[in-house]
Amino acid sequence: MLDLIVRDGNLPDGRSGIDIGCRDGRIVAVAPQLEARAEREIDAAGRLVSPPFVDSHFHMDATLSRGRPRLNRSGTLLEGIALWGELKPLLDADDIKRRAHELCRWAIARGNLAIRTHVDVCDPALLAVRALLEVRDELKAFVDLQLVAFPQDGFYRYPQSPELLAQALDLGVDVVGGIPHFERTMAEGARSVRALCEIAAERGLRVDMHCDETDDPLSRHVETLVYETERLGLQGRVTGSHLTSMHSMDNYYVSKLLPLMREAGVSAVANPLINIVIQGRHDSYPKRRGLTRVKEMMALGIDVAFGHDCVMDPWYSLGTHDMLEVAHMGLHVGLMTGIEEMKAAYDAVTETAARVLGLDGYGLAPGCHADMVVLQAPDPIECLRTRPARLFVIRRGRVIAETPCVAPRVSLDGQTGVVDFTPPET
Ligand code: FE2
Repeated sequence: MLDLIVRDGNLPDGRSGIDIGCRDGRIVAVAPQLEARAEREIDAAGRLVSPPFVDSHFHMDATLSRGRPRLNRSGTLLEGIALWGELKPLLDADDIKRRAHELCRWAIARGNLAIRTHVDVCDPALLAVRALLEVRDELKAFVDLQLVAFPQDGFYRYPQSPELLAQALDLGVDVVGGIPHFERTMAEGARSVRALCEIAAERGLRVDMHCDETDDPLSRHVETLVYETERLGLQGRVTGSHLTSMHSMDNYYVSKLLPLMREAGVSAVANPLINIVIQGRHDSYPKRRGLTRVKEMMALGIDVAFGHDCVMDPWYSLGTHDMLEVAHMGLHVGLMTGIEEMKAAYDAVTETAARVLGLDGYGLAPGCHADMVVLQAPDPIECLRTRPARLFVIRRGRVIAETPCVAPRVSLDGQTGVVDFTPPET
């Protein structure tokens, strides 16, 4: 007797009519028409059963704080950072935890069961670090939170950063972050990348740095990040987040840079919802999109994931933490409307993102954690098109969120019918 069987699902790799059996929190069988029985059975009825969505880049300490103490008028990154600086002294641990818990409930309802969140360490009390470590622990049965020690005000520009970042890592923060483009000079930025990668190497940790989040084509800290990855033997453990300057870099230079990234096993995280509204703000017309070179990196075999980055905070007023919305924006801004490109956009919020985070036991194979989402659509492309209801969100073999099928009824000339957005057969 199994704990749960999800029957007749389509998998993201194209298999259909698949049953997934789960016992003791793990997937134990993936095959058509399992003969076993289970305590609970869910009929997916030819819909997509996906591994959970993964948000590879988020800021949980700032989320759901929109308008406090005021709105971002210019819409720029720098006003957002200044605004966050105004808000920080007004925060207390309860407030941070309350907002983080609420955001995690939204995430789970959307089928997002892993989130890498940067947490600002530029606070002598490390209030947000301590609060989010508690939240990570309190919610670990439901969602994997991975914390990144993020020196928002600069590793060198904010004098206490080195000490506070070390303290945050001692307290149990998982990943080393950075923000080289915010240091006072290009040289100081490069020096910060070097120092932070050395800290990660000494402690055996991963690195995920905000890197070149600017429209300046000469902001080239990703080059240093790649160099330090090779020098310190960090291959496969380092991620560059945003990389928006790459949008504006000289093409010849990029043709040298991308193979170096691939050789060093450096992955990238783009944040399409945020990049498209934060970048290009200093342009008149034409206005640059700012999204990094997603397609080109993917074509070379570099792992590129998409992150949400912000939900209702000093940088971005919108969002419900729906990773399908992120992938939808990503494929539009990245001009990725080919079928294989759209599938890669779906992977950027599922499998590729899980690889970037280094998640154990992720996927829909026997032995993996029994974590999955049943969606009201038959395949990843239809999910991107309709961004459908997450009917069942399953964690360790247990349903932790449900949404009823959405079925709008339309009445025309006295005839009422249900619309499910399936195109008519031709
Ligand atoms: Fe960010």
